[in-house]
Amino acid sequence: MASDKHYTLAGVMGWPVAHSRSPAIHGHWIRQYGLHGSYVLLPVQPEHLGDAVRGLRALGFAGCNLTIPHKVAAMSLVDRVDPLAARIGAINTLVVEKDGTLAGYNTDAYGYIQSLLDAQPDWRADAGPVTVLGAGGAARAILVALAERGAKDIRLCNRSPDKAQALAAEFGAPIRAIPWEQRAEALDGCALLVNTTSLGMKGQAPLEISLDRLPRQALVSDIIYVPLETPLLAAARARGHVAVDGLGMLLNQARPAFEHWFGVRPELTPELRRLIEATL
Ligand code: ATR
Repeated sequence: MASDKHYTLAGVMGWPVAHSRSPAIHGHWIRQYGLHGSYVLLPVQPEHLGDAVRGLRALGFAGCNLTIPHKVAAMSLVDRVDPLAARIGAINTLVVEKDGTLAGYNTDAYGYIQSLLDAQPDWRADAGPVTVLGAGGAARAILVALAERGAKDIRLCNRSPDKAQALAAEFGAPIRAIPWEQRAEALDGCALLVNTTSLGMKGQAPLEISLDRLPRQALVSDIIYVPLETPLLAAARARGHVAVDGLGMLLNQARPAFEHWFGVRPELTPELRRLIEATL
């Protein structure tokens, strides 16, 4: 039996949170690496977020993930926000440091880029223009990730034009807001198309977009993972594009978070992917 001191506790704070796949992902790694610890669901209502975050240290937690609706609100509750997370404007990973202070990170940007690299190891952000559909919270992490990796021309299309314009103004070059009605034309010469809207998700209308102008070598990615094969990805595959589903981002964002708490950078194995796929 390990002593309490060597038992590492982590979890995911959200509301609602019961549907989260994170306990299955982190639990798998805890077993795989023979570690002493657990990763638990932390259902925390928005009005209790401050108490819950401040209570992590006393409860002996190494940290936790933050999910909807806490990713933005938690930023003002930590002692330090990592610069990348500050640019994104949200934290998804909280770390209780050795001195008891709290640090906030965002691993979604890493997770997204790594999901592309897993699908195409020689992928480069500067291979050509990128079209990003959607300007919500998920789009922010992806836009920052692509800009950091050297994307030179990012065409941002959103149903509500003011949100795309506000993001383009906030992040500056290389992001340009393009009207939603011109999303098919925006694909001209693109090397990557990303869907960050909820269109195509189970129970939602499919994303309507003609891929005719998209060069065949372009990558098509959808951050949705229920279903794994969205109508967009099916259409892309039918045209011969490499299609990247949202499960890769979900699995990869968990890796640096796990390393922060457990001290091991976990591998993403086909076995883990199958395990999580079976829960979708
Ligand atoms: P997330 O944090 O997952 O990005 P979000 O912040 O609610 O979620 O953003 C959802 C995105 O999907 C937004 O870009 C939204 O467009 P609006 O800004 O115009 O709301 C987009 N979206 C949702 N439903 C849509 C629809 N029916 N047609 C087009 N875009 C839609």
